[in-house]
Amino acid sequence: MAEYIYFFNKDTLIVKPPKKSPMFLRMIALLFAMVCGVLICSIRLKQISTSSKITYRNIRVIQIPDIDYGIKQIEIPLGNGTEQSEIPPVNYPKPQTFSRAECAHNPVQFFAIISMQRSGSGWFETLLNSHSNVSSNGEIFSVFDRRKNISSIINTLDKVYNLDWFTSASKNECSAAVGLKWMLNQGLMEYHEEIVEYFKRRGVSAIFLFRRNLLRRLVSVLANSYDRHAKLLNGTHKAHVHSHTEVAETLSSYKPVINSTSLISDLKEVEVTANKALKYFNSTRHIILYYEDLVMNRKKLNDVLDFLRLPRMELRSRQVKIHTGSLSEHIKNWDDINRALNGTVYESFLRDYKR
Ligand SMILES: *[C@@H]1O[C@H](CO)[C@@H](O)[C@H](O)[C@H]1NC(C)=O
Ligand SMILES: *[C@@H]1O[C@H](CO)[C@@H](O)[C@H](O)[C@H]1NC(C)=O
Ligand SMILES: *[C@@H]1O[C@H](CO)[C@@H](O)[C@H](O)[C@H]1NC(C)=O
Ligand SMILES: *[C@@H]1O[C@H](CO)[C@@H](O)[C@H](O)[C@H]1NC(C)=O
Ligand SMILES: *[C@@H]1O[C@H](CO)[C@@H](O)[C@H](O)[C@H]1NC(C)=O
Ligand SMILES: *[C@@H]1O[C@H](CO)[C@@H](O)[C@H](O)[C@H]1NC(C)=O
Ligand SMILES: *[C@@H]1O[C@H](CO)[C@@H](O)[C@H](O)[C@H]1NC(C)=O
Repeated sequence: MAEYIYFFNKDTLIVKPPKKSPMFLRMIALLFAMVCGVLICSIRLKQISTSSKITYRNIRVIQIPDIDYGIKQIEIPLGNGTEQSEIPPVNYPKPQTFSRAECAHNPVQFFAIISMQRSGSGWFETLLNSHSNVSSNGEIFSVFDRRKNISSIINTLDKVYNLDWFTSASKNECSAAVGLKWMLNQGLMEYHEEIVEYFKRRGVSAIFLFRRNLLRRLVSVLANSYDRHAKLLNGTHKAHVHSHTEVAETLSSYKPVINSTSLISDLKEVEVTANKALKYFNSTRHIILYYEDLVMNRKKLNDVLDFLRLPRMELRSRQVKIHTGSLSEHIKNWDDINRALNGTVYESFLRDYKR
């Protein structure tokens, strides 16, 4: 306001009352001053109201002001979180362990693949990592210490998104998208409030990957746990049990018995958990994918690349799909299961996704 008043005063000082009809000119000057005053006041008021709104919102964005994340403030989506931003925020990470060299001026998208075990996320991540500008660092939070409390989660995320986390997937200086794979039962639901806040503050986009056929998923869960157990007993247990990414899957010979009594409530529970996750993270920038859709239509992967603002290119994975063919061949007590689900909302799981 001060500069306006000063300017205004200077103006009136310059207006010297001439000798002819001083009263008339004085009236005009007064009128002019009044109009100007009203205009200036109304403009100023508008500016004050909008700028205070922006300041309030920006405060939420930069809650840790002493750490330079290299975030461009202007591009951060504004709003109270109820609306979803379509424009991804632009990040320029400054890793402590190396220099981004000639790629320092390329923006980097932050993402998290949010999924559940046995939902095709290993396969999906391998596909993403076949892109020359994507570093998806695997199931980092399968290690309990990294998700022990919210501060260890945030420390870990900071390292990943500052590009200071190294795995075989790291593409370092020229990564244009960096992220990780995160299962719902790895602290994500427990600390969802803080994690959503973090995602918004640092502009992390969520890629939900779920499986439509939860019965097939259950078969896969049981077969996988059998397989791990068998490997342990046989002494061929490898150190990186948690990383399915590199392991070619050869589980299809085992047929699990599924508890038909608890089946419906087990399926329901998985469904409810997935919906809860979507609800928790609804206010973050996100995309929802289904494993079956990706398998049937590889072009869907372009949606993911567009979502991450990456140049389109063909993605490849050498991982073998398992449990193809009719489900009846993969469940020992198929008749029980068929009876348990026939006529329920989950009936379509029996007859599968070839529609
Ligand atoms: C803020 O959120 C509330 C719901 O929590 C919504 O009704 C309101 O429109 C939002 N305001 C803005 C400015 O987005
Ligand atoms: C979180 O866990 C780490 C060890 O992993 C510990 O050093 C730290 O004090 C814990 N923080 C809180 C707030 O409990
Ligand atoms: C992708 O990586 C290549 C080098 O591997 C680099 O030249 C290019 O600039 C990167 N693209 C983007 C969009 O960062
Ligand atoms: C355990 O090892 C034996 C001998 O190497 C092999 O024949 C068998 O198939 C293995 N079992 C499993 C479950 O891997
Ligand atoms: C199947 O589930 C029911 C209900 O949860 C439980 O009481 C029963 O012990 C389970 N049966 C087996 C074989 O695990
Ligand atoms: C997320 O929010 C949108 C718009 O507010 C709403 O239409 C949608 O149903 C919500 N989804 C979930 C899973 O809550
Ligand atoms: C499902 O149940 C109905 C009767 O309730 C039966 O006629 C039908 O054959 C069943 N379907 C299968 C595939 O078992």
